[in-house]
Amino acid sequence: MTPSDVKATLSFSDGSPSMDLPIYKGSIGPDVIDIRKLYAQTGKFTYDPGFLSTASCNSKITYIDGDKGELLYRGYPIEQLATQCDFLETCYLLLNGELPNQAEKDEFVNRVTKHTMVNEQMQFFLRGFRRDAHPMAVLTGLVGGMSAFYHDSTDINNAEHRKIAAIRLIAKMPTLVAMAYKYSIGQPYIYPRNDLSYAGNFLRMMFATPCEEYKPNPVLERAMDRIFILHADHEQNASTSTVRLCGSSGTNPFAAIAAGVACLWGPAHGGANEACLNMLEEIQAMGGVSKVGEFMNQVKDKNSGVRLMGFGHRVYKNYDPRAKLMQETCNEVLAELGLENDPLFALAKKLEQIALEDDYFVQRKLYPNVDFYSGIVQRAIGIPVPLFTAIFALARTVGWIAQLDEMIGDPEYKIGRPRQLFVGAEKRDVKPIGSR
Ligand code: CMC
Repeated sequence: MTPSDVKATLSFSDGSPSMDLPIYKGSIGPDVIDIRKLYAQTGKFTYDPGFLSTASCNSKITYIDGDKGELLYRGYPIEQLATQCDFLETCYLLLNGELPNQAEKDEFVNRVTKHTMVNEQMQFFLRGFRRDAHPMAVLTGLVGGMSAFYHDSTDINNAEHRKIAAIRLIAKMPTLVAMAYKYSIGQPYIYPRNDLSYAGNFLRMMFATPCEEYKPNPVLERAMDRIFILHADHEQNASTSTVRLCGSSGTNPFAAIAAGVACLWGPAHGGANEACLNMLEEIQAMGGVSKVGEFMNQVKDKNSGVRLMGFGHRVYKNYDPRAKLMQETCNEVLAELGLENDPLFALAKKLEQIALEDDYFVQRKLYPNVDFYSGIVQRAIGIPVPLFTAIFALARTVGWIAQLDEMIGDPEYKIGRPRQLFVGAEKRDVKPIGSR
């Protein structure tokens, strides 16, 4: 970290001695004030629920400029990666810091495709679930369960183990997600085909049956690949921070990624794509575009508890660049499938138009996020709504692993152990039960 010439001085109004705090400069983005010695020198903690002003680590992987609406993976703008690279190149970039040349790409793709099958026992593990279990419940179990199958890659402190675990997770996630889907509809599992692209293989495992040949539609394959790229990493969001915190205890990589899957499930995070599509379907059932005004009034009423799902972001206060790319993909997919007049797409565009002009949203800087259009694309491809977040998890796995790897390699890494402001009862004595 590069120290700045400027120092922060913390002073107290009660006459306690002031303290100089070092400042470090990022390559881009806000500087940070180093408060690590604060407690030792002052006996005080900082207080920042939700990490509104706290950098939990230093990282070289992903950078978001929320005011400009910019997202960079290892310095490359998401727009360029989404249009000029495929998902596995993006994975290579996130893991290794540089885009691969052709030979490096071939070698990486070959490694990943050689690990796409899962241990045959996995299907018996899967069989323990109810057929109507939520795919994220199943996926949390399956990913955590991987540590029971791949003992030779569970030592998080061994760089070689972490490398193998990374390849295994990236390669096997599509297989596991597709298995969870096939199980839920009672169809036979489709084994991976290594001559297909990562996205093409996933579509085939999802939609083929043993009864006939399946050829992935190239437009849908490209759309799927773009969904994967756009969701691959997003700096220190809730699930990534969960993976880092979980991994900081030294647990195995599969367990840490399973924790990330569990965190992603929530509707304020990855579960928003499912919640967004459910919201669009509800408005459609209420009467569609004609009911948008009524729905927006509910959203703006603080007592209603209704939020416009797929809108707003902790960091983006201008526009989520992924939403623009997703809307483009949405147009392509709907045109390819002859669904240009899809009522949910029309509804989404109407909601977006109203929200972008409405004072409530403008003042709070609320814009569509990636999930606003990704659900419509996935639904058009034929992916059932409850599986949306599982696909997000599949795509985010590489980001989680890259961040975990970065953390373990950081000489300043320690087990994560936040402190608290205690506001509960002071020490007291237990009374016998009859006198309580
Ligand atoms: N609909 C209506 N009002 C909203 C929304 C929304 N979607 N999002 C934020 N607000 C309001 C909120 O009520 C608050 O108003 P006020 O200042 O009057 O109290 C203000 O905007 C700030 O909201 P916040 O909850 O303090 O903002 P946050 O940064 O803590 O939350 C968020 C960010 C993403 C959780 C939130 O915008 C949200 O719940 N959005 C809907 C869920 C969603 O789409 N999540 C996907 C995020 S992108 C995918 C991912 O990376 O996981």
